[in-house]
Amino acid sequence: MTSDGFDPFAYAHAHRREIVWMSQNTNHLVPPEPATNAIRQALDEHRYEGYPMAAGLPELKSLVLADLGLPTDSGCLVSAGGTEALYMLARALLGPGDEVIASDPSYLIIHKFIELSGARPVPIEIYAPPYRLTADRVQAAIGPKTKMVLLIDPLNPLGSGYPAEEVRAIAEIAKDHHLWLLNDITYRDFSDTHTLAYPYHPEQTLTVWSVSKNCGLAGLRIGGLAGRPEVTKTVGKYNTNDLGVNILAQVAALADLKSKATWFDAVRTTTRANQATIRAAVEATPGTFLPVYPSQANMFAIDISATGIAPERLQETLLRDDGVFVRAGNYLSPKFGGRFVRASFSNPPSDVARFAAAFPKAVDRLRATAVTPRAA
Ligand SMILES: Cc1ncc(COP(=O)(O)O)c(C=O)c1O
Repeated sequence: MTSDGFDPFAYAHAHRREIVWMSQNTNHLVPPEPATNAIRQALDEHRYEGYPMAAGLPELKSLVLADLGLPTDSGCLVSAGGTEALYMLARALLGPGDEVIASDPSYLIIHKFIELSGARPVPIEIYAPPYRLTADRVQAAIGPKTKMVLLIDPLNPLGSGYPAEEVRAIAEIAKDHHLWLLNDITYRDFSDTHTLAYPYHPEQTLTVWSVSKNCGLAGLRIGGLAGRPEVTKTVGKYNTNDLGVNILAQVAALADLKSKATWFDAVRTTTRANQATIRAAVEATPGTFLPVYPSQANMFAIDISATGIAPERLQETLLRDDGVFVRAGNYLSPKFGGRFVRASFSNPPSDVARFAAAFPKAVDRLRATAVTPRAA
């Protein structure tokens, strides 16, 4: 909700057929057949009449572990999106007085869950090159109360990815200090190369996975957590979804993961072309820039601070006047959120073309009424 009472999500959902949805890193490029055929078959068989296997379909869990290259005897929790697993693990592993090394910007819902468990996120400011955590800065931030390190790789909202040696160094620091390492890999498939933290600190690494973005199944709400069986068992004690995750979501996830190798390259090719389209539009708009290019995920933060335009105002005009839904940065960073909007691009090129045509004009419309540009 903006200060004048405009609710962008209420507006966007009410106009969902007319707008292009570039605000939530959702993926609109996955061929629908595998998931819809699997759902149709489950509907025909009335599978919704019974409860699913509480622990999740065994074949789905095996596929997730195989997809990640984790040991076949790992634990794998299936939850209502990665979000539910994030909530569970915060509750299970953190308590009052504990601190979690995190970043700003970050995916702040995780910080909220940390706070709900009584612990405190300790964000390292990363809105400057290399726009991600470094092992040195993580090491320097560790104190007597540190219990966990949050490594989101690739990072929402900046799109930064972690080089293999940095993942290894951060994981080894966590290991040396007996810290939990929360490795959120929601955007892994979009990156050129990706390194899991697990092999470097298997005892305490929590790998949070999701099929919302890679498989384009955000609306079905399914994801989970992989790790050593004793770790997933400890976290699973806090599972409120005791009777299992929606069966339609599970069969769709299974079908998409099974077929992913046949279509994901095309998703990657389109997202890379879309990145170039957005970059050209940003470069043609004075006062704006992309902190991270290329993005290793499916989103960019677009810095607009030198225009003096508030991100919420740009979000509103793009949505109402151009039918393009991007997200103001304030929900992703307490300190830097006033400097950027976030735009995701796992969309058909026609959506991204609409953004590219609208963005420079929207900035120009608002520039006339903008306040003094903020210092960078
Ligand atoms: C870094 C990160 N982790 C987790 C999630 C949640 O994903 P899910 O839809 O699986 O709950 C998101 C969603 O945007 C995210 O950006």
